[in-house]
Amino acid sequence: MKKRVLVTGGAGYIGSHTAVELVNAGFDVVIADNLCNSDSETIEGIRKITGAEVSFVQADCCDKDAMESLFKQYEIGAVIHFAAYKSVNESVAKPLEYYRNNIGSLVTLLDVMRRMGVRDIIFSSSCTVYGQADTLPVTEKTPKKRSSSPYGNTKHICEDILRDSTAAYDNLHCIALRYFNPIGAHPSAIIGEKPLGVPQNLVPFIAQTAAGIHRELKVFGDDYDTPDGTCMRDYIDVVDLAGAHVTALERLLENGGTKHEVFNIGTGKALSVMQLIRTFETVNGVRINCKVAERRPGDIAAIWADTTLANELLGWRAERPIEETLKSVWAYEKRIRGI
Ligand code: UD1
Repeated sequence: MKKRVLVTGGAGYIGSHTAVELVNAGFDVVIADNLCNSDSETIEGIRKITGAEVSFVQADCCDKDAMESLFKQYEIGAVIHFAAYKSVNESVAKPLEYYRNNIGSLVTLLDVMRRMGVRDIIFSSSCTVYGQADTLPVTEKTPKKRSSSPYGNTKHICEDILRDSTAAYDNLHCIALRYFNPIGAHPSAIIGEKPLGVPQNLVPFIAQTAAGIHRELKVFGDDYDTPDGTCMRDYIDVVDLAGAHVTALERLLENGGTKHEVFNIGTGKALSVMQLIRTFETVNGVRINCKVAERRPGDIAAIWADTTLANELLGWRAERPIEETLKSVWAYEKRIRGI
């Protein structure tokens, strides 16, 4: 029988899609989420898509007692740790909240895992650890750079904690996945990205502008050193990204790698902000009212992944074409807005 996997932050965007793929791959899933940036409707969505009785515990991963009783009650076999604050802007205004929550939850989980004899953890990291790299695309060996935000720093620090802890403790193995820019929704349109308040990320803002919620979309800068002057990113479909967690988990459970591994999870292709907007318009037959605005502080000009390591060692690659991904964004937005 496959192990029972604790998915922290499983009511969130990437966590919910991963929970679905885990169930599809035959794993038993327990979600722990404090619902601070998500809602229990998503849990119902996961159950509806999979037809499985996915367990849900409303709990904070910084709460050691709650985590310990959850591990005991459900006999957890492995952990995928998504639960974290993720807003770059908010982290600048609330650094202590970000350090306390993002670092505290990881340290708490690692403590509980050690006490309960659970060996394997997958950690949600980010390409933010590379900053603006000197050479592109970035490989896992590209030097990390100091982050311009507390949010980015928490990813650096958590990666370091995992490296040091796996080196020190025999029975701790980890894979950190460095996500590029996750976008899209499940093909059922039942779950997707549902930001609270005004979205800060590009794709949810595009979708909401198309839905008439915002009058216009600001393109942050068109004077970067890129072919059309707008920033370039590697947009990875969330279902493909969810699948990467399943293959990474299987590798960990089979003891297929070293004790501590890091993989870039992207498509290996870069799209500019304007290219992404135009593709969204074309595939969905909508117009996005956009206007060039000032650069956004802290943005880097371009980044995309070299995914050779994930392709070769995990046997994983991104498959969904960007057109399909952007159609799924609009299908989900239309469903939740009743359009
Ligand atoms: C940021 C973080 C990343 C984090 C991710 C999720 C950095 C450098 N990157 O990614 O670590 O994991 O958020 O929260 O900290 N844009 C517009 N108009 C908009 C919104 C965005 O033009 O209204 C542009 C941005 O300038 C950028 C691109 O779209 O060039 C993508 O932005 P966004 O979706 O916010 O993601 P990142 O900043 O790449």
